[in-house]
Amino acid sequence: MSKILAAVAWPYANGPRHIGHVSGFGVPSDVFARYQRMAGNDVLMVSGSDEHGTAIQVQADREGLTPQQTADKYHRIIAGDLQGLGLSYDLYTRTTTRNHTEVVQELFRALHANGYLVPKTQLGAISSATGRTLADRYIEGTCPLCGYPGARGDQCDNCGRQLDPADLIEPRSRIDGEKPLFVETEHFFLDLPALSGALGRWLETRTDWRPNVLNFSRQLLKDLKPRPVTRDLDWGIPIPVAGWRDNPMKSIYVWFDAVVGYLSASVEWARRTGQPEAWREWWQDPAASAYYFMGKDNITFHSVIWPAILFGANGQGSRGGQPSSFGLLDRPTEIVSSEFLTMSGSKFSTSRQTVIYVGDFLREFGPDALRYFIAVAGPENHDTDFTWDEFVRRTNSELANEWGNLVNRSIAMAHRYDGAIPTPGPLAPEDAALLETARAAYDVVGAALGRARFKQAMAEAMRVVSAANKYLSDSEPWKLKDDPARRATVLHTVLQVVQDANTLLTPFLPHAAQKVYEQLGGEGTWAAQPQLVETAEEGGADYPILTGGYDAQEAVWATSPIPVGRPLAKPAPLFPKLDESLGQTGPAWAPIEN
Ligand code: MF3
Ligand code: ZN
Repeated sequence: MSKILAAVAWPYANGPRHIGHVSGFGVPSDVFARYQRMAGNDVLMVSGSDEHGTAIQVQADREGLTPQQTADKYHRIIAGDLQGLGLSYDLYTRTTTRNHTEVVQELFRALHANGYLVPKTQLGAISSATGRTLADRYIEGTCPLCGYPGARGDQCDNCGRQLDPADLIEPRSRIDGEKPLFVETEHFFLDLPALSGALGRWLETRTDWRPNVLNFSRQLLKDLKPRPVTRDLDWGIPIPVAGWRDNPMKSIYVWFDAVVGYLSASVEWARRTGQPEAWREWWQDPAASAYYFMGKDNITFHSVIWPAILFGANGQGSRGGQPSSFGLLDRPTEIVSSEFLTMSGSKFSTSRQTVIYVGDFLREFGPDALRYFIAVAGPENHDTDFTWDEFVRRTNSELANEWGNLVNRSIAMAHRYDGAIPTPGPLAPEDAALLETARAAYDVVGAALGRARFKQAMAEAMRVVSAANKYLSDSEPWKLKDDPARRATVLHTVLQVVQDANTLLTPFLPHAAQKVYEQLGGEGTWAAQPQLVETAEEGGADYPILTGGYDAQEAVWATSPIPVGRPLAKPAPLFPKLDESLGQTGPAWAPIEN
């Protein structure tokens, strides 16, 4: 039994999340965490809403709200959507808590005390019209490195490199199109060159990451410059340094604040369980591992910036130093990054306000159809275009026809003929072969899930389903009226394999898995779901968090004999079929425009 931290990227609370977001950080992390729990490991899965920074402030201005009101509104919506999708967080919290502020300030303080934060004057952009600070990502221009015309002031989405707004060729404000003014301003810079030795030695040991992440990160190390980690902004965490702390116009950069969330949420989780030191088992034990899940635009911050913060706060860079009050903290074991899910084929784009939001999707199709689609057809290894056509095809032909029908046919027959799980007679070679196929799949599917190879894992699990369908067609139990003993053996065999396939599919389809478990006569919770709990800080308003009791579930990553004689009821269909025309029209709330 090992300790595994599942650290999931924190969504910005500046709007509801769309299916592209949850295909990057959400579904992959949950499939992984659910598998690891079933395999007997001790998982701590944490995340929360990312509520500071310009993205939230700009949205607040748009809506005539304060940044806190904006964050409150979208945190609630996002937490509800993530719960609806069944993402099994041990804690999903937010960055505007007192605990988070304290943890961020402590790491910042330690980095400063250890000499890894250096004040420096730089050119900062302000709006020529209003005189207000323009955040990096609200400045657009041509990338000086690759010539991409749509580069942002913080990074170029074409070549992926980190930028400073002053580097952009022909900079302009994304808010009003004006050319920004650059004025001198003082900021703290994270001294990445002083941490690059430690970063490089650590990256050398990371050999089994997905090649895109590893190559990208090694590339970044070749040209590390000090990076500013404070901003001219009044919506963020105060800078805990004398002379800076009381300046309301300066705050810690939202990315510094957000990545520390993995630690602060672990600390908050421990406090909530009544064992305030329990987080240490995931952060300070060399035998523990930490997997971080995100979309590819987040890689830099997780493979370089966050480890650099940890090395510096530990006092492990070239300037040495003392560990923060938390003690020595461990780096990521693996960065699991997804590519992008695009929606251009369906003619959707955020700018045209026609986006496929998670909430709408869940209301119409339920969680497991989306989880299935993301797992089999999502952007695991390359950018992938979502189309309604493919969604309909896969839902109907794979989920409903292959898996749903297998469950339905086999349980319905056993119900009709025996009213219970029938008693098997001697096994024919084809029975034994099918049972062996299912048994052997645990190792193969488990190994793929443990390495976050979701498509491969799903393909192997679905191979068992196909084999069971073929077995059923070949053995034709419905024609065995005159040989009820053989029929009972066939049905027993196929029900055993349905139970095994259901176990293998549980990390992907936890809601359907609970239903199949019950249709097979199981009682209690097979796959536990996250709970939305209202909470509040002293003197503050209520807000929701997600949490759950996942130790109390029955699901285990192993075969177990299906109990003979257990009564079976007539099963309801597992996945309703979608109307084929949906592939051409899209749903009413996100119609395809032709
Ligand atoms: N809010 C960022 C985004 O949506 C992700 C932050 S991940 C964190 O891209 F861990 F750093 F918080
Ligand atoms: Zn570029």
